[in-house]
Amino acid sequence: MLRLLTAGESHGPALTIVVEGLPAGVPVDRAAIDADLRRRQGGYGRGGRMKIESDVVEILSGVRHGATLGSPVSFVIRNRDHENWKDVMSAEPQPPEAKARRALKRPRPGHADLAGALKYVTDDLRSVLERASARETASRVAAGALVRGLLDAAGAQVRSHVVRIGAAALPAGPPVAWEALDRIEESPVRCADARVAEAMIAEIDKAKRAGDTVGGVFEVVVRGLPPGLGSFGQWDRRLDGRLAQALMSIPAVKAVALGAGFEGGELAGSAFHDEIFYDEKRGLHRGSNRAGGLEGGVTNGEELRARAVVKPIPTLLVPLRSIDLRTKEPEAASVERSDTCVVPAAGVVGEAMVCWVAADALLEKLGGDSLAEFLDHLDASRAQWKAFLEKR
Ligand SMILES: Cc1cc2nc3c(=O)[nH]c(=O)nc-3n(C[C@H](O)[C@H](O)[C@H](O)COP(=O)(O)O)c2cc1C
Repeated sequence: MLRLLTAGESHGPALTIVVEGLPAGVPVDRAAIDADLRRRQGGYGRGGRMKIESDVVEILSGVRHGATLGSPVSFVIRNRDHENWKDVMSAEPQPPEAKARRALKRPRPGHADLAGALKYVTDDLRSVLERASARETASRVAAGALVRGLLDAAGAQVRSHVVRIGAAALPAGPPVAWEALDRIEESPVRCADARVAEAMIAEIDKAKRAGDTVGGVFEVVVRGLPPGLGSFGQWDRRLDGRLAQALMSIPAVKAVALGAGFEGGELAGSAFHDEIFYDEKRGLHRGSNRAGGLEGGVTNGEELRARAVVKPIPTLLVPLRSIDLRTKEPEAASVERSDTCVVPAAGVVGEAMVCWVAADALLEKLGGDSLAEFLDHLDASRAQWKAFLEKR
């Protein structure tokens, strides 16, 4: 239903974003999009680049007087750092010195450098890493913030928080309550428990001192999604699979779990599954939510909960062993200006990806060329569920 295309190199002039498929009349709050971009740039453990950039969107099309027109929405995010890279990243032919100036020849283990060099058969790693860089995730955050307008109108909200950084983690147990995320942005690591947050900061400091990096886990929580989004009719329509793909596509994410996720491999069915209850006061409800809001690849009306594991990022100040791609001689991997820990920022990107998938699934179920038509369809669906659940 929705299509997203992004373009742009990390040190090129700008990131370009095209979103197609939103109905007309969806409110667009540019300040809210910029606020999400700022959240992606923050988090304890970020490096020097984030001090140079202060991302804002320029809306080029598809929006008029604060609402979508139904036509493709396009925007750009300028790269301020491009000023320092004009000849290196120029689209025009340049003297060889320009290419040599920021050349990278020693692939970093864990980055896209070597795989990209083999793919494009080049020893000019700059040409590979400029697009592979997670700078691209700013585009996704902008697109996610745009479709949040549709989710808001439908009464759905998306938040995220950090569960683990290195050895510091929230204790196992009941899921972190939605309300505990009200002030999550006040935590420098976006963690709901102040004491655990301190331990997380200590993990990042320790990694930084050692010239190392540290990974972790974030969780995205969605409230207010109607039941019935996604389908078990075909493998590629299942919403669990679509969410997993979207989250796994975030650079450095190496595992995705829905609800209790990996714990499911340890528990008996009787301990794992969420019992079903109905009473006059609460209506239909569940005893727990280990399924994370999805059964059969379809939303079941409970909170949607997805976790993602973020590996420690690959650029190390004390580099790992690699080779020089020209000489094939052993060399230390290249060192670029880099972050120490990106888990809090990756959570913001995770929110954007989940917003995207949720908005797509809502439009798939409800359709509508205008927001008013979409909301009419939502009301009709709600009335049907109500009548169905109240019937004896
Ligand atoms: C928000 C964010 C920021 C990142 N910043 C860096 C960075 O500064 N240095 C780095 O080496 N990797 C960084 N990464 C991770 C790399 O982009 C990623 O490891 C690389 O593209 C290879 O992809 P893969 O890890 O998915 O295989 C970042 C990832 C995210 C989500």
